[in-house]
Amino acid sequence: MKNIVILGSTGSIGQNTLSIIRQEPENFQVAGLSAKSSINLLEKQVEEFHPETVVITDEEAGEKFLLRSAAEKTEVILGNEGLRQLVKKPGIDLVVIALVGIAGLLPTLEAIEARKTIALATKEVLVSAGSIVMSQAKKNKVEILPIDSEHNSIFQALRGHQEAEIRRIILTASGGSLREVKGDLSDIKPSVALRHPVWKMGKKISIDSSTLMNKGLEVIEAHYLFGIAPSSIEVVIHKESIAHSFVEFSDGFILATLALPNMKLPLSYVLHYPERAKSNLPKLNFSKITKLSFENPDFGRFPCLKYAYNALNKGGTMPAVLNRANEVAVEAFLKERINFGRIPEIIKKTMNLHQVTEEPNLEDILAADRWAEEKAGKLI
Ligand SMILES: NC(=O)c1ccc[n+]([C@@H]2O[C@H](COP(=O)([O-])OP(=O)(O)OC[C@H]3O[C@@H](n4cnc5c(N)ncnc54)[C@H](OP(=O)(O)O)[C@@H]3O)[C@@H](O)[C@H]2O)c1
Repeated sequence: MKNIVILGSTGSIGQNTLSIIRQEPENFQVAGLSAKSSINLLEKQVEEFHPETVVITDEEAGEKFLLRSAAEKTEVILGNEGLRQLVKKPGIDLVVIALVGIAGLLPTLEAIEARKTIALATKEVLVSAGSIVMSQAKKNKVEILPIDSEHNSIFQALRGHQEAEIRRIILTASGGSLREVKGDLSDIKPSVALRHPVWKMGKKISIDSSTLMNKGLEVIEAHYLFGIAPSSIEVVIHKESIAHSFVEFSDGFILATLALPNMKLPLSYVLHYPERAKSNLPKLNFSKITKLSFENPDFGRFPCLKYAYNALNKGGTMPAVLNRANEVAVEAFLKERINFGRIPEIIKKTMNLHQVTEEPNLEDILAADRWAEEKAGKLI
């Protein structure tokens, strides 16, 4: 029996994780859950899974939850600090990090320090502070199990192989909601950009997919997770989302990991790791796949992907700045305060204004994050 904490249990990844746990009560038990403000859904999750602790980071929403919740046996903690308290509680076997954005960074570091195995969906954690997170994980002998389908598939392909044997990794991208849209993208509305052709996901990652920033963040994530040079990480558009990644070895052989595009597959993998799950999800039917297509991404039309490579090559605090500028711009776009075309513009301008701190410590990263929030905010 594994005791599991899910940070961001009311989100798309969080709910998918709980749906696997629901099917396997003999294998998994929920020890803790968290949400920002979705208290109605959180209340239902508490009634069903009886966690020992829940954290609500939005304190106003948390006060409302406290007034009406009948779950007396569940400890309720309010505020961001609660996430850090929750992940280090004794008896927890696995912490699923499924928040959005930089909010996941400090709880992830706390969980690593408490020597909990991490299942990581929140790519922004590695984008902002990849070298700190990975070196802390190494120091504390903590495994980081990637949930992102591309990284999960690379992780699987690399089992039994050495880093030095890898020549290249190729991340596949569905192309996002705008892949078939012709002409100018600058006035695309949030409702159109959110309509992902393959995956049903939270709003922020859906917009990141439409700008291809999601793939850029994944390039940075892959660099830190697997220790691969940026020049050896490539991106290819693969509309069918069946091949989740390719790993090419020094002798020219390539391992591809294929699966239906369903987040329950990588989630089930990390929950069961190091065992393999006995899945009853639909099988990939090869006779129904008429083609698997691959094409190069259009860096001119989707410059965010290029900016992510630039930030990774600059290194230091620049990826954290890229990340926060993107978070600020995406939020403003979702609130219809800026048009679609200004997302890359704001990121580029914020990056151009930044003086990089090389080999940053955590304080430097957090300072760069705050700096980027302010600068990008002023550019809105
Ligand atoms: N969805 C996918 O299929 C997918 C695939 C690969 C990777 N990822 C990554 O996984 C992460 C989560 O994605 P998602 O699609 O599940 O997002 P989502 O549906 O928007 O859910 C986000 C979760 O985090 C909580 N949250 C949001 N902002 C927070 C904050 N500032 N502090 C604390 N909690 C906060 C939300 O609570 P409320 O509900 O109360 O707002 C919710 O529980 C992202 O980093 C994404 O890039 C997602």
